[in-house]
Amino acid sequence: MLRHNGGMSERIIPLVDLRNSLPLPPPSAPLAWSSSLQDVRGRPLHDLRISVTDRCNFRCSYCMPKEVFHKDYPYLPHSDLLTFEEITRTAQAFVALGVRKIRLTGGEPLLRKNIEVLIAQLAALRTPEGLPLDITLTTNGSLLARKAQALKDAGLQRVTVSLDGLDDAIFRQMNDVDFPVADVLAGIDAAQAAGLSSIKVNMVVKRGTNDHEILPMARHFKGSGVTLRFIEYMDVGATNGWRMDEVLPSAQVIERLQAELPLVALRASAPGETAQRWGYADAQGLFDPSQGEIGVISSVTQAFCGDCNRARLSTEGQLYLCLFASQGYDLRSLIRGSLSDEALRQQIAAIWQGRSDRYSELRSLMPPDSEQAPARKRVEMSYIGG
Ligand code: GTP
Ligand code: 5AD
Ligand code: SF4
Ligand code: SF4
Repeated sequence: MLRHNGGMSERIIPLVDLRNSLPLPPPSAPLAWSSSLQDVRGRPLHDLRISVTDRCNFRCSYCMPKEVFHKDYPYLPHSDLLTFEEITRTAQAFVALGVRKIRLTGGEPLLRKNIEVLIAQLAALRTPEGLPLDITLTTNGSLLARKAQALKDAGLQRVTVSLDGLDDAIFRQMNDVDFPVADVLAGIDAAQAAGLSSIKVNMVVKRGTNDHEILPMARHFKGSGVTLRFIEYMDVGATNGWRMDEVLPSAQVIERLQAELPLVALRASAPGETAQRWGYADAQGLFDPSQGEIGVISSVTQAFCGDCNRARLSTEGQLYLCLFASQGYDLRSLIRGSLSDEALRQQIAAIWQGRSDRYSELRSLMPPDSEQAPARKRVEMSYIGG
């Protein structure tokens, strides 16, 4: 977004204006969701992603470009953030409605003070059947070496680390704060040593920037117990200057890998999964579990909205029904009001039942040469969480 200012161009910061929250639908009666809550496309609610801070110590250009997220950027004041108690209460309402997986995101979630206290609170929640939740966290890994053990002790089961390459110069350039790759690798090692399981590494692939790192990354993590996933660069937010020619389709990622590291397609392990899974093959061409697997997340070339079961809670308690939404529902005012837990559940149920979002599918129906589509203000990923 550019505003002209006497010959100078100045970016307008896309602040989220809470006055523009979506109007709340009338709450659902308990019977309308007690069996199985579905949205208008028949999609269940399964996965809740909670952003715990809008700040990050990296400036990846595809997410928080420096020109926008500079030192005077108006991050949310602390009083606007949901407290741990508010987050836990909200999460509990979501669990009653079907949520079984909670992912903490940011910004960088490990920057939130005492995050392990929140993890312990979430780890104590139980499903209506009395089972614990799948609790995980997406981090840039910069603080992981220091915090992995405390996170594990608090009840975190697994972790996903973002890492866009092994080449130190490329990585420093992509995080744009000169952060060394060795420290992130040390964080991954610490996570493994602390006993965090199913560790995943997410690599956003930008053609012409880090696509030559695909093979080195695959070689590095093959057989390590870490699952590497290649993510198509997405047109999320409004500040990253996304261009289709910088997207490397997942089909080409697989082609490049297959040339050196034979792969076999694996079945999805859960409905609504973001990644397509591929296993490393042995000499007979069969999946060799000791070598592990990789994944490709193809939200640009093969949208997966059809079974999207993810809700997103922003740092300040706005409920977003899609990563590409421009507006959310203001749950914070409800939580800070005098609403009972039952009334909160009924309100969230009604919001989910009215959901029809499927942005990536709609984008893929647009002509290939169209720019970001449909053109409208979108929320930033650092605010809503990946
Ligand atoms: P696992 O349960 O560990 O497999 O997690 P996940 O695949 O749900 O989560 P993760 O946060 O690792 O997601 C990986 C990446 O996929 C994100 O960073 C986003 O780039 C992308 N992604 C996740 N959810 C969505 C979604 O709902 N829509 C789109 N378009 N992209 C998504
Ligand atoms: N495209 C794809 N993934 C993105 N992420 C952030 N911005 C983008 C984008 N434009 C994801 C990355 C990162 C996580 C925090 O968010 O997976 O690891
Ligand atoms: Fe920070 Fe992750 Fe965004 Fe990079 S992608 S700026 S590490 S939140
Ligand atoms: Fe879900 Fe929206 Fe992503 Fe589609 S674009 S998968 S509806 S979050």
